[in-house]
Amino acid sequence: MQPDGVQFAGVEVTRGTRTVFSGLSLTLSERRIGLVGDNGSGKSTLLRLVNGLILPDAGRVTVAGLDTRADRRRLPAHVGFVFQNVDHQIIFPTVREEVAFGPLSQGMAKAQANAAAERLLARHGCAGWGERAVSDLSEGQKQLVCILSALAAGPRILLLDEPFSSLDLATRLAFAARLAALDLQVVMASHDLHLFDGFDRVLWLKSGTIAADGPPATVLPLYEADARARAAAHQDSGMDHGAAGSPRGTGPAPA
Ligand SMILES: Nc1ncnc2c1ncn2[C@@H]1O[C@H](COP(=O)(O)OP(=O)(O)O)[C@@H](O)[C@H]1O
Ligand SMILES: [Mg+2]
Repeated sequence: MQPDGVQFAGVEVTRGTRTVFSGLSLTLSERRIGLVGDNGSGKSTLLRLVNGLILPDAGRVTVAGLDTRADRRRLPAHVGFVFQNVDHQIIFPTVREEVAFGPLSQGMAKAQANAAAERLLARHGCAGWGERAVSDLSEGQKQLVCILSALAAGPRILLLDEPFSSLDLATRLAFAARLAALDLQVVMASHDLHLFDGFDRVLWLKSGTIAADGPPATVLPLYEADARARAAAHQDSGMDHGAAGSPRGTGPAPA
């Protein structure tokens, strides 16, 4: 359990013309928390609120007692973030530079930061990767580098936004085991529900509201049943519309 965890107090967020969250209050203190929900339900916005990439329009978010607005500059030492798309995260040409960036930006000398990066790589089965060009790595290897670079700064909380979407099954399982072994708080959004095995808590987001919140064994069956019911309804209406010559995808986007 983290000392203070993450607190959302009356959080409002508008992105573009859309109100994503309105009066969201939550405490996230369990060690393993999952986020599920449709595309557009607010999972990425919630994660980005925790690391200060998005600031609330009203209300406040605190992480281990730090306000994401007032103490934004101190957040990177506490919060690691793994983006859905590796290309949004990776900024350096070599693996060593990428992984050493966190410690360097916290003021560690370059030689020490590089040594710390090499040690972290070695601990995760990537000994000798430091010299490699990131562009020559596979998608799975890039995702591993992203996770290690997020861990390099020694965060207390790791946020993962659909981090395994492009990985094959064996690599996913290896990542899941790696995550399970980490001694820090994890908040992860995923559509792969098996990744929540062993998690303490899952939040189901539906259009910016919490549709269900509890242990995975309670929340995931509700979420799956809802998704199946909607898929069946969609198929039925698709068949009706299809007969009228209007297949799916041509109407207005769902709310
Ligand atoms: N860059 C953006 N500009 C405007 N609206 C956005 C942007 N990103 C997301 N949104 C809107 O915010 C809402 C929540 O999106 P997001 O948090 O990305 O959902 P999820 O991660 O669950 O797919 C959606 O309605 C989406 O359209
Ligand atoms: Mg998202």
